[in-house]
Amino acid sequence: MAIHPVAETAEIPENTFKIVQVEGRSIGVYNVKGTYYAVHNYCPHQGAELCKGPVCGTTLDSAVFEYIYGREDEIVRCPWHGWEFDLKTGKSLFSDKVRVRSYPVVVQDGTIGVMLGSANAKGEKE
Ligand code: FES
Repeated sequence: MAIHPVAETAEIPENTFKIVQVEGRSIGVYNVKGTYYAVHNYCPHQGAELCKGPVCGTTLDSAVFEYIYGREDEIVRCPWHGWEFDLKTGKSLFSDKVRVRSYPVVVQDGTIGVMLGSANAKGEKE
């Protein structure tokens, strides 16, 4: 698994992101409340550039007729049909079986690196 330097930390302040190219892949690198995450810029539904969608929160589990909004800046919403994905895990919000590919991120001496190889951000083999 190789680490690919993609940006300096100053380039991606908290709650912003940057789309980078690594080995022919388009990857969104997000700073979610001070922690960096990387997801493939490719929606598993029909292939939209997922990372061009808005970063937002979502409604949380709540009682009927009660709408509680939370997780601000932790969710990316696909610009085509609105599928939503957790930036921290890559999982969709509607199914554990649908996810966008995510990549481990390392930060060293102010440089953000994305790890490409055979594991996702959680270290699971894919
Ligand atoms: S292409 Fe992303 S939700 Fe349809």
